[in-house]
Amino acid sequence: MLFDPFNRRLNYLRISLTDRCNLRCLYCMPEEGVPKLAHEDILSYEELLRLARLSVALGIEKIRLTGGEPLTRRGVIPFMAELARIPGVKDISLTTNGILLAEQARSIWEAGIRRINVSLDSLDPRRYALITRHDLFERVWQGIQTAEAIGFQPIKINVVALKGINEEEITAFGRLSCEKPYHVRFIEFMPVGPSVGCSEDRFLPADRILERLRSLGPLTSINGRRLDGPARRWAYAGARGEVGVISPVSQHFCPNCNRLRLTSDGKLRTCIFSDRETDLRRPLREGAPDDHLEMIIREAIAHKPREHPLNTSSAPQRCQRQMSKIGG
Ligand code: 5AD
Ligand code: SF4
Repeated sequence: MLFDPFNRRLNYLRISLTDRCNLRCLYCMPEEGVPKLAHEDILSYEELLRLARLSVALGIEKIRLTGGEPLTRRGVIPFMAELARIPGVKDISLTTNGILLAEQARSIWEAGIRRINVSLDSLDPRRYALITRHDLFERVWQGIQTAEAIGFQPIKINVVALKGINEEEITAFGRLSCEKPYHVRFIEFMPVGPSVGCSEDRFLPADRILERLRSLGPLTSINGRRLDGPARRWAYAGARGEVGVISPVSQHFCPNCNRLRLTSDGKLRTCIFSDRETDLRRPLREGAPDDHLEMIIREAIAHKPREHPLNTSSAPQRCQRQMSKIGG
């Protein structure tokens, strides 16, 4: 098993499959996009599978595929199927913006994935277009409906809460969680990456989000299970779904952090906010045997920070890598 120096067990690996994306969310990218990695810089599926197998052998139980937008990478479905076949993997999930979900949901299901997170920051098509700079709300909505009909469970809806942008919609999302079996997750806006189209003053703390949610009706807290991650969760009486808040900024969940991240160009990151990266691609391509790769991974983990430097009382420090290259 993998433990860091603070005795946290690391059993969760987030793999960013690509730095490319078919949206340009205000808080993530500038309108013109960001310089793209060259094809040869990206780990191949064979390389990713080797690292995934090794990680699972070391104690990773849960893998999430992220991006950029993972569904834009060619061949992603057979790759998911291979991942799902790794003995010892307990959970494989996907974070997507949903643009390609309607057309791919069936094959994602057939590849063995059951849990998806769809990023959807507005239920209003015009506001959605403003945030993502693409007028594609209906497509994402169709994707979510298709996924629900196929049987994905749970379907999580990630909402980045932005003051003065989608703040007024928090209760609409709360209502959605009553009508549909969706787990709506509000995520505090994290001022990470080089400056983008969204400034720090858009930050909306979890307390404010909760206040808005409570204005819709009383909430009952739901206790998390072990693989649940950092969300604090509640449900409205009689709701089919639930709401949750992920507050990386206002409430550190660092003490329980169980995560490692692998970027699409093969760098291991032990903290979303730290620019310390460990290159796995080069040793991989130079033919390093498993025990050598294991040593490199353990060495990286030995430097996992205790906590990140973001908090509401000091000026947030920005890390250098774009969110679309870390994978959220
Ligand atoms: N702050 C909070 N969430 C972010 N995401 C991307 N950038 C940020 C940010 N700066 C979210 C995406 C997606 C998830 C992978 O991370 O909207 O839901
Ligand atoms: Fe794409 Fe996600 Fe970034 Fe939006 S937040 S531009 S969907 S990677």
